Amino acid sequence: MAEPAAPADATRPTVQVWDAGVRLGHWLLAAAVGVAALTGFVLGPRWLAWHLAAGVSVIVVVGWRAVWGVLGPTYARFAGFVFPPAAVLAHLRGRQHTRHVGHNPLGALMVLALLPVLTAIVLTGTLALGGMLKQGPLRAFLSYAAGRGWLGLHNTLAIALLVMIGAHLAGVAAESWRGRENLTRAMLTGSKPADPPFAAVRPAAARPALAAAVVLSAVAVGTGGVAALAALPGRGVPPAEPDPMVAEQCGACHLAFPSSLAPAATWSAILADLKHHFGADASLSPAQAAHIRDWLDANAAERWDTLPAHLLRQPAADGSRRITDTPGWRRRHRHIAASVFAGKDGIRRSDCAACHADAATGRFAPQRIALPAAQ
Ligand code: HEC
Ligand code: HEC
Repeated sequence: MAEPAAPADATRPTVQVWDAGVRLGHWLLAAAVGVAALTGFVLGPRWLAWHLAAGVSVIVVVGWRAVWGVLGPTYARFAGFVFPPAAVLAHLRGRQHTRHVGHNPLGALMVLALLPVLTAIVLTGTLALGGMLKQGPLRAFLSYAAGRGWLGLHNTLAIALLVMIGAHLAGVAAESWRGRENLTRAMLTGSKPADPPFAAVRPAAARPALAAAVVLSAVAVGTGGVAALAALPGRGVPPAEPDPMVAEQCGACHLAFPSSLAPAATWSAILADLKHHFGADASLSPAQAAHIRDWLDANAAERWDTLPAHLLRQPAADGSRRITDTPGWRRRHRHIAASVFAGKDGIRRSDCAACHADAATGRFAPQRIALPAAQ
């Protein structure tokens, strides 16, 4: 049993339970999960950069906590988290006679469940990111379809996590009330009242230098590995540069739309009638038109595995050749206020680059979207 520390207030002596490593980890994790949930559930794809930063923070803190669970001081150690099922049940029924100043049997179970769930959420998020957006360490390996599947699991796990967090908060509230102690404050200050007496725990000495060395090496190896994998070419990602003739001829009046933004049938139809081209005359010599059609056909949406190529490959039902009339384009842009596109100062729907900084590459990464202020 630890020695009672200096009293927090004049009346109750206290004992130091949560060390700085546990407390810092706990609150950093709470903040990172909060940012991830807010950006993922509420704010949407334009906040992806924040979402990813939150995910990286989560996995670093989870890794830290796992190491501290082995090398930390007495109450940080996982060894003290394992209770016989009978103790968990007795605690649930409220027939608990021993006080646990560390985690009680249910709280311990929650910590042991949260760490793998958080890890699985970061992992499935990375799989979805690699498959769907061709970003991150797995961009070379996963198909769009596989990424979508992982995104489904990522979302399900994220909802399960919210439920677990709800249960955790309810548990903290219930225990604080039942034990007449403020557990939230204990996680801030680290100390708890020394009485009533609590079950003795075999003291363990922390090994902070070793723990820091383990975590820092893991971060260094992880960062290097992620950087090396992320440098591989993305699976099914078209070249960022178009054919020079396409760039010159089709970029004369507007953005040279990347070939992966429309199916081959749409490109053939556009190239077949350049004289009546969306109200303009874009006529080319037959040889030029044939060269451009062949290149666009060979690099059309069906041939690539990026999100825009999948989103936009289904043509408009009414036969329109516009990218902006496709069901995929309409669906993704339905939340944009009509006023953004209205009037003579409005942005043209076809002016992808007005809102997508990387439009010319065909990538349309969520991090590169900036919606100009409505006129
Ligand atoms: C003489 C100018 C001119 C040239 C050259 C030209 N275009 Fe266009 N293009 C237009 C105009 C004008 C529109 C209609 C823009 C709008 O309504 O926002 C348009 C629209 C489009 C659209 C539909 C955009 C949407 O709203 O979804 C596609 C696709 C397109 N052009 C492809 C091409 C291709 C491929 C070439 C090269 C063979 C080409 N354009 C060359 C003038 C041109
Ligand atoms: C007025 C600004 C604006 C214009 C113009 C615009 N977009 Fe977008 N686009 C957005 C916004 C905002 C989103 C994100 C919508 C959301 O929050 O789900 C988006 C989303 C997308 C996405 C999905 C990105 C993802 O990962 O979720 C694609 C693909 C896309 N746009 C393609 C296009 C193409 C192709 C054009 C041109 C033909 C275009 N956009 C023109 C604003 C614009």
